[in-house]
Amino acid sequence: MNPNKALWEKGDFTRIAESMRPAGVALVETLGITEGMDVLDLGCGDGTTAIPAARAGADVLGVDIAANLVAAGNRRAQAEGITNCHFEEGDATNLRELSDQSFDLVVSIFGAMFAPKPFDVAKEMVRVTRPGGRIVMGNWIPNDPTLVAQILKISASYTPPPPEGFVSPMTWGIEANVVERFAAAGIPHDGITCRRDTFTFNFEGPPAELVGLFQHFYGPTMNAFDAANKDGRADDLRRELVALFESQNTSARADATTIAAAFLRVTVDVP
Ligand SMILES: C[S@@+](CC[C@H](N)C(=O)[O-])C[C@H]1O[C@@H](n2cnc3c(N)ncnc32)[C@H](O)[C@@H]1O
Repeated sequence: MNPNKALWEKGDFTRIAESMRPAGVALVETLGITEGMDVLDLGCGDGTTAIPAARAGADVLGVDIAANLVAAGNRRAQAEGITNCHFEEGDATNLRELSDQSFDLVVSIFGAMFAPKPFDVAKEMVRVTRPGGRIVMGNWIPNDPTLVAQILKISASYTPPPPEGFVSPMTWGIEANVVERFAAAGIPHDGITCRRDTFTFNFEGPPAELVGLFQHFYGPTMNAFDAANKDGRADDLRRELVALFESQNTSARADATTIAAAFLRVTVDVP
């Protein structure tokens, strides 16, 4: 089994995505979506951005490597009576089912960054975008002090080192890497812009309960707990994560969690 697919099917990202709904809607409002636009959401999960994009009038295809998340996305669209959004399995490193130049907008929010072979991913995103179209990526930033970069950093410190030649997903959060990858896919430097943006997680429960969701349902953290359990260090890992979530929480309510996380927003204009 493809280890990238196995990682995301091991968990259930829908449980985390519930804390991302309002921020997903807010992000989509900044994308300039108009009626009838063809939008690809790559690494879409269960539709955090795909479903609001469809509500804004776009015809949306969500593509994700995890079969469970594709099924969850289709269930959500159906339950909400949305007919202009559907979800399919696919791999960002090779979108062989998709024709060249078929989307006005390709969006990938914390999605394609997790695929291996980043140069292939950039090439595929450019290939399926129409001339004059746009690609928007949201990528976590390595060593950033805010939530997700720190979750991934702490998780990595409990997990065995990755195999030789592994390229960290976090390198998508470094502007020089982004430029190099899209330049290799034929995009001129002035067609690529990167800026810091913020994504806010909102959870109806205290920070320690949100840590529990990451522990049991988020692939990278689940792997860290598996490794930590073997070393007898699971309590240390949980303590570190609870301290992180509590220190970042800005909710005034004791029974709710609000945490803003910085990310690199990448916009690519396809000539
Ligand atoms: C952090 S989740 C984000 C999901 C969604 N974009 C959201 O914001 O809720 C990362 C997603 O990327 C997907 N993914 C990872 N590797 C992929 C690949 N090679 N091709 C397509 N999707 C991939 C995972 O299955 C998962 O749904």
